[in-house]
Amino acid sequence: ADAEIGLIGLGTMGSALALNIAEKGFPVAVFNRTAQVTRDFHRESGELASRVIPTESLEDLVAAIKPPRAIILMVPAGDPVDQQIKALAPLLAPEDLVIDAGNANFHDTNRRANAKLPVRFLGMGVSGGEDGARHGPSIMGGGNRADWDRISPILTAIAAKAEDGTPCATWMGEQGAGHFVKAVHNGIEYADMQMIAEIYGLMRDGMSLPALRIAEIFEGWNEGPLQSYLIEISGKVARASDPHGGQPMLDVILDRAGQKGTGRWTAIEAQHLAAPIPVIEAAVMARNISARLDERKEIQDRFGPAPQPCIIEEPILERALIAGKILCYAQGFAMISAASEKFGWSLPLPEIARVWRAGCIIRSSMLNDMAEALTEHPDRNLIMAPAFATRLEDSLPALRQVVVEATRQGHPLPALAQGLIWFDMMRTGRGTANMIQAQRDFFGAHGFERLDGRNEPHGPWGS
Ligand code: 6PG
Repeated sequence: ADAEIGLIGLGTMGSALALNIAEKGFPVAVFNRTAQVTRDFHRESGELASRVIPTESLEDLVAAIKPPRAIILMVPAGDPVDQQIKALAPLLAPEDLVIDAGNANFHDTNRRANAKLPVRFLGMGVSGGEDGARHGPSIMGGGNRADWDRISPILTAIAAKAEDGTPCATWMGEQGAGHFVKAVHNGIEYADMQMIAEIYGLMRDGMSLPALRIAEIFEGWNEGPLQSYLIEISGKVARASDPHGGQPMLDVILDRAGQKGTGRWTAIEAQHLAAPIPVIEAAVMARNISARLDERKEIQDRFGPAPQPCIIEEPILERALIAGKILCYAQGFAMISAASEKFGWSLPLPEIARVWRAGCIIRSSMLNDMAEALTEHPDRNLIMAPAFATRLEDSLPALRQVVVEATRQGHPLPALAQGLIWFDMMRTGRGTANMIQAQRDFFGAHGFERLDGRNEPHGPWGS
């Protein structure tokens, strides 16, 4: 047994992760359900082939790994993970460790962690797509701390490194904590993508800018406070042209986005936690509306498209996006705090910001500043951390201008608008739920609380 670790599932992410592990000097035994895939993978692993041990049965895989063993599963989330654990368990010793590195629903990870499996078990969120998996992903681990510590030398070696050299691989807490943090990451990923798409839409439909001009604008923003992987790729996407006809690629792509569901899980969980994350919810909603192509066409035929131009200066758009991003992350981090309390996890907000600084899809320079702000003020909403309060004050008028003007002209900015609405509600000391209390008491005799503390069971509503 020569392998330091095993890996099951040689799809895109599994293959990339296995090569990354081998490249960092750890011999890795690999297995795929279809043996030919394993053979091809080994043959194509080039100079890393000597550290890749192909196996064609689970027995061989297990025998190839040094005990106590660690085996990463990179199989589709859901039932395949349970099936794989079931097939492996009889071959493993109790101290062997199975690591689910797929995009599991954290409730499944909680269930598996609590199921008294015959082996050790960790749930690990991995972000960064294929390139990240190959050259340095961001890793969010959950489960028993001692199990994490046992394999953390491999994980920190393969993880992305932040600018200050810190590896982006962190233990988040017990059970499904790692997969939970990955789900929120994906919710934020949806929201970041959506807000960029909204500004793109405004530039395309409101300002009639061609894709190449939009590319230049994103490229410019990527040099400033919005520097991030998603702005960078949006610039590249806008610059690309269709090999078949030469038009901008964006102009030949259908406006319907799929989803595997992690953003939706985040939105659903936020409702269970009573944690408001309207920017993320709007992003999920927007993907769902995007799927209704025929219906949208029909409604456009009946009511017409957003007609008037909507011209907004580029720096205003940039600042609106900065404000939207701050508000979105403030909501995401607050949701993590709420979950931490509910599940008893002590999720480390500054560490989460740090682990997202590199490797993952939402990596950005702003996350450096968020990590600092949350280190200084771990228990306050991000927008109350002085550095972000100031930035928000500076950028909020631009967000308001963009949302108001776009809305007036009929250009939808659901995620950006929800950021603004959340802010306006949160900064309203006296809201309007006094009306809700009174209505509930009126029709349901639910009672209410008075401002002066006087005890009054019900209101004088009459009938
Ligand atoms: C990542 C991504 C990745 C996710 C895809 C697709 O962090 O690397 O979040 O894990 O699976 O981006 O997600 P959707 O299909 O839900 O858009």
